[in-house]
Amino acid sequence: MKNSLLALFVIFSVINFNAKADEGMWLPSLVGKLNIQKMSSIGCKLTAEQIYSINHSSLKDAVVALDHGSCTAELISEDGLLLTNHHCGFGEIQEHSSVEHDYLRDGFWAMKHEDELPNPGKTVTFLIRMEDVTEQALKEVTDDMDDQTRSSKIREAVAKIEKEAKPEADCEVRVRSLFESNKYFLFVLQSFKDIRLVGTPPQSIGKFGGETDNWMWPRHTGDFSMFRVYCAPDGKPAEYSKNNVPFHPKYFLPISLKGVTKNDFTMVMGYPGTTTRYRTSNEVKNTMDVVNDVRIVAREAKLGIIKEFMATSQKARIQYASKFARSSNYYKYSIGQNKGLSDLDVIGRKQGIEKNFLKWANETPERKAKYGSVLDSINAAFETSVDKIADEYMKEALLHGAEIFSFSAKSASLYAALKGTDKEKISTAAEALRGSLGEYFKDYDAGTDMKIVGKLFKIYADKVSPRYIPGIFQEIKSKYKGDFDAYAKRMFEKTIFADQGRMESFLNKPSIKVLDKDMAFVAMRSLYEMQYVILHDLGKTKGNIDKARRLFVAGLIEMNKDKSYYPDANSTMRLTYGIVDGYEPKDATYYDYFTTLKGYTEKGIKGDVDFDFPQRVVDLYNTKDYGQYADRDGTLHTCFTSNNDITGGNSGSPVINGDGELVGIAFDGNWEAMSGDIAFESRLQKCICVDIRFVLWTIDKYAGAGNLIKEMKLAR
Ligand code: ARG
Repeated sequence: MKNSLLALFVIFSVINFNAKADEGMWLPSLVGKLNIQKMSSIGCKLTAEQIYSINHSSLKDAVVALDHGSCTAELISEDGLLLTNHHCGFGEIQEHSSVEHDYLRDGFWAMKHEDELPNPGKTVTFLIRMEDVTEQALKEVTDDMDDQTRSSKIREAVAKIEKEAKPEADCEVRVRSLFESNKYFLFVLQSFKDIRLVGTPPQSIGKFGGETDNWMWPRHTGDFSMFRVYCAPDGKPAEYSKNNVPFHPKYFLPISLKGVTKNDFTMVMGYPGTTTRYRTSNEVKNTMDVVNDVRIVAREAKLGIIKEFMATSQKARIQYASKFARSSNYYKYSIGQNKGLSDLDVIGRKQGIEKNFLKWANETPERKAKYGSVLDSINAAFETSVDKIADEYMKEALLHGAEIFSFSAKSASLYAALKGTDKEKISTAAEALRGSLGEYFKDYDAGTDMKIVGKLFKIYADKVSPRYIPGIFQEIKSKYKGDFDAYAKRMFEKTIFADQGRMESFLNKPSIKVLDKDMAFVAMRSLYEMQYVILHDLGKTKGNIDKARRLFVAGLIEMNKDKSYYPDANSTMRLTYGIVDGYEPKDATYYDYFTTLKGYTEKGIKGDVDFDFPQRVVDLYNTKDYGQYADRDGTLHTCFTSNNDITGGNSGSPVINGDGELVGIAFDGNWEAMSGDIAFESRLQKCICVDIRFVLWTIDKYAGAGNLIKEMKLAR
């Protein structure tokens, strides 16, 4: 009995070990030291050197940050072919779209290099190497130093490290702090700037499910798009030029046609943006009651207005598609995060950690002196207060609510130039503005922006403490009897900033008088003046909490000596490993780990904004024309879930099997674990991936772009 119980226990612990999600976004250069053993035990056949090496090419050379880390992408051919999510190329796809060439609706495929579309401003960044430079960075720092001195010592040391780093040609060096400034790492990076759009499926595949399915599983989205990295003929990074050539990367990922099954090893390499896993209970409360609540209120109002406009015409839909998706994504995120934080009692769990920390800190006089008051400082700084609420509403409802204020703020340097007499300065500033008009007004609807101003100003007035009401609101009260819509209407009739023609006439003959009188410009200045007051007050209540945060993390690491810690995400390259698996979202319900094209056809609704589908997909489904992309079970798998630990910025990341082959692209997180950026949920948290065979099938069978498949290296 005893023995069999023990045997059972052993079996269970093995199963558990395998089934347990693996929390952590690890630094690739430390994988050999911290992770490779465990990775091997769950099916990874690669060595640490094959993943990250500075001596020869390795997986890390195929993984790039897109647009400085807003997404991730991977190289999949020796001619610089790049794979990422549809939602990571969405801005470009939208910008290239017009009523005549509606790439959002119809997709786009370059059948030859000459057809690929350039995207000024888009960048791809390679990690050349990384290095722990903590010792050098903290060399001049002592324990008794005040924080200001400490910061300036570190700043000097970091400048020296960056100067002496001797990066490879065309590379740049960045030193970044990790673990709340307890550690410092140096990164050598190389950025390419000629990135061309190669292909995208229609939205009805690439964004299938739309806002309804966003942040949800089960999913049937073919969330991918393709670009190509170009360089100068000598292989160096270069701005766009006709003479540029496809870039040959050090390494590119082979693609597996084998698919994945339950418990298969997977790892994800990429550029996770931000996590706050070491934050305290009051900070979590502040995120819920202030940050998320304000975002939900402000964006709900704004999105409602945009949605109405988008339904009016094809042109309107194209114009606002990208703006809507961007705003709506984190609107829904905040709703889900608040629900998750509350359902999973994250505040309670954080309080538990804090209780243990305090107990440990108070065990010796030395620890008590160093760590004893750390939590009080952080938690006091995050008591909800009127300045914090004002700060969030200022950003969400005023400065980044309507577009007209951030757009008019772009005239600040022209305004400064107009104050002087330097003609050249004036004309340089005016020409810079003129250059941006076309792109801006192509996707701008003044009537919509006007409605947003009226609605969001009203919300601000209703929600924010009188101390933080900008001066302009007084005028609205006296001149417009507090009618924000009437005020907005007048502003849009008068301002130069809502109309391309007026802007052009103004720039032909710029004058400071026009700006001084312009209603949008005047309002914008009033908003920024008030933001200054808010930030000043915020500084007082928040104090300097950097030190307390640093000590809290240092204490946690000291307290749990045997545990490996990983730093919070900060848009530097990370690796997370785990296995393919489904989950139990709620009582009596189990979600399988994969979806198929059958589910796509089941969800499809002709003409629906979120679930419209191309007839061709259904035709191919009916004839089961899956070719080499079919699973062993005869179906076409569309998406799958794994327990990899990812967050925003990981979008587009390669999902790699134990042999180092591409099996999917990560594209989302799941509704039941939206609190995951703050506390990892080992039972619930999933990485939602598009199956690479669905991607290839779409390119090959749906779009007929076999030229692209030929470039890739397929593994059977
Ligand atoms: N939630 C995903 C992310 O943040 C996808 C967002 C794009 N899709 C959308 N329906 N807005 O990466």
